[in-house]
Amino acid sequence: MACFTTCFNRKTPPPTKHGITLEEEVSNIQNIILYSYKELRRACDNFRAVNKIGMGGFGSVYKGKLKNGTMVAVKVLSEGSTQGIQEFLTEITMISSMQHDNLVKLYGCCAEGVHRILVYGYLENNSLAQTLLGPNHRNIQFSWNVRKEICIGVARGLAYLHEEIQPHIVHRDIKASNILLDENLNAKISDFGLAKLFPPNMTHISTHVAGTLGYLAPEYALRRQLTRKADIYSFGVLLLEIVCGRCNKNERSPTEDETLLGKAWELYNKGELLELIDASLARDTNMDEAVKYVKICFVCTQEMPKLRPLMSTVVKMLTGEIEVQGKLIAKPGILPEAFLRRNIITGDASSPGYSSIEASPMRESTFISHGTMTFSSIYNRNS
Ligand SMILES: Nc1ncnc2c1ncn2[C@@H]1O[C@H](COP(=O)(O)OP(=O)(O)OP(=O)(O)O)[C@@H](O)[C@H]1O
Ligand SMILES: [Mg+2]
Repeated sequence: MACFTTCFNRKTPPPTKHGITLEEEVSNIQNIILYSYKELRRACDNFRAVNKIGMGGFGSVYKGKLKNGTMVAVKVLSEGSTQGIQEFLTEITMISSMQHDNLVKLYGCCAEGVHRILVYGYLENNSLAQTLLGPNHRNIQFSWNVRKEICIGVARGLAYLHEEIQPHIVHRDIKASNILLDENLNAKISDFGLAKLFPPNMTHISTHVAGTLGYLAPEYALRRQLTRKADIYSFGVLLLEIVCGRCNKNERSPTEDETLLGKAWELYNKGELLELIDASLARDTNMDEAVKYVKICFVCTQEMPKLRPLMSTVVKMLTGEIEVQGKLIAKPGILPEAFLRRNIITGDASSPGYSSIEASPMRESTFISHGTMTFSSIYNRNS
């Protein structure tokens, strides 16, 4: 059943290309609540700065409380996403039809005038970037079992996007800030399908270029080959970060030679992987299992995309349903350091407008805007 709040308060809604009014068009949309801008503004107390909980490449996120008391996260999309209302609603319908325990729930949206806003369920424990890898890590005890469940949860959510829904969705931006935790520390993937709301030349990749480059599969970053295997690479990096409790790239020193992934491979070959496992885990951890998870990271991040397993197989490896075969463990593909150096933003990444980047192999098609790295063309969006 289509649900309405006080949206579409225009006096005469324009007819859509199907020759019916927008309200009629909208009434065909299933499972999605349409909010008025006024209602969301009220929920977020006029979008006051104190209610802002984050800012990403797609726009700002505010914490809000709806009239019925439901807490929501309200994502106000930046102007790059102001596509037509009809196209916007079509994409939202598709995104909202994806339902899984490990995906953040999209309640609805607002598409009024220039406003394009998404309304998600509010997750109490913020993102992994904040809690496990960031400044708030001491507030939550991430035991081995909690980490394990988070890894399995993310893998299940991704397997759903990749293999269960039609057309398949490549997330494109699997990283710690896009993994949110509910009150029971269940992992939920956020921002799935969002790239579809932006025109191809605004395709969002990252707000934290150096940090996110740490998640980019080499074939995607260098040759712009986007397939599910690029997400699987990013998942592998995330897996390692969860086990080690550290970011793959040191954001304070993004050009520092060694990534966590490179270091892990080096230690694996020396038989010293235990050095890398988060020291705070020592007491309660099944170290064999932690090492197995690092091996699964290598399986996912190997250079050859074809050899990376599907997510459903990764889930089985994580849960122990299938063994991690030694022959699948291969040297991770890591972007050449020169690529990272060439793609560090020159100038102030946070200032509005386009900044230039130094010459790079992708110079012709790469822009940095608002600290966001964008590719002008992406192939194979849904493969
Ligand atoms: N549903 C939600 N519940 C609680 N907090 C949220 C929710 N969605 C987003 N946030 C918070 O807002 C922050 C910003 O999210 P946003 O997706 O805009 O940026 P990001 O994840 O850092 O980067 P990107 O734009 O690449 O996804 C998140 O890191 C998280 O802390
Ligand atoms: Mg995000």
